[in-house]
Amino acid sequence: MDIRIVPLPAEKKKPRFTDESKLAFGRLFTDRMLLVEWKAGQGWVDARIEPYAPFVLDPACLVFHYAQEIFEGLKAYKWADGTVALFRPEMNARRFNRSADRLCMPEVPEELFLKGIEALVKLESDWIPTSPGTSLYIRPTMIAVEPVLGVKPSDHYYFFVIMSPVGAYYASGFKPVKIMVEDEYVRAVPGGTGDAKTGGNYASSLKAGLEAKKKGFDQVLWLDGVHKRYIEEVGAMNMLFAYENRVVTAPLTGSILNGVTRDSVLKLAGTLGFTVEERQIDVNELVADIRTGKVTEAFGSGTAAVITPVGHLSYKDEMYQVGDGGVGPLTQKLYDTLTGIQYGHIADTFGWMRKLV
Ligand code: COI
Repeated sequence: MDIRIVPLPAEKKKPRFTDESKLAFGRLFTDRMLLVEWKAGQGWVDARIEPYAPFVLDPACLVFHYAQEIFEGLKAYKWADGTVALFRPEMNARRFNRSADRLCMPEVPEELFLKGIEALVKLESDWIPTSPGTSLYIRPTMIAVEPVLGVKPSDHYYFFVIMSPVGAYYASGFKPVKIMVEDEYVRAVPGGTGDAKTGGNYASSLKAGLEAKKKGFDQVLWLDGVHKRYIEEVGAMNMLFAYENRVVTAPLTGSILNGVTRDSVLKLAGTLGFTVEERQIDVNELVADIRTGKVTEAFGSGTAAVITPVGHLSYKDEMYQVGDGGVGPLTQKLYDTLTGIQYGHIADTFGWMRKLV
């Protein structure tokens, strides 16, 4: 499918950031966006890259009422030699389509997803920051725009992609965060939408997140929705725990997100001599293992969060310090290796980086 480029008038060009060290997460957006529509009976039509602008949408659109929405997150990097590269974008394309299937939305052909993002990133490549810890965050999204109040899959969708030059997701940067194991609210149940990247999962997490924040925590760590016993994910990140020579994380059984960074970290941990275990983690065993020092490190992984060390974890009002509460050697090594590949400093032996030509 051809992508039409709508001219960007000079007055629509936004001022560039001047200080990359001040970039927050997702507050500033580039000049253009990709927009493609899907209409019943026609399929995907009118792909275009146009100036970034608000949508005018009917208040009856299905997305506003029944949250028929999915999204993705991936990043573009600009290397010292000027190369622009995306990190494993085909993984996002595939997950987007798995989410689409779960939410009864049309699949976006992988080629359209990738070509659309590549064309947009190329046009906006002067928006990619280059300082360590910064990148261009890309947010593909699909929303249901049919104006009707009956509960049903829409007959009209917008697939759009917006982009934001970003710094670290957590304002503290690459520093240990404190998380609280949530034992009241749940995020997902078997058969639900836990492994789909859909806005509703995030909306329903807000209350627990806010209550945890009031108690001084950065995020909540969700337990499984049936027994409230097994570790799931953090919402913005998958969770991993290092034992002496093992990396342990929750399995992909449908209630947690199949993270691209999670997958990458597990592959990297394997090359560093760690045995990878994807298995149920009982929270009681976990806190006992933290207390006795068997768990040496804890960290989260995610596109936005990259690799985020977890220094403290609280469960039922009791606080547990992981290791010495700082950044452990494995966490540091994984962060350095992953970001080294992403920024083009370390050879990409996995073939993860998709260079734009
Ligand atoms: C990402 O890591 O890309 C996400 O979508 C998580 C979001 C909460 C920022």
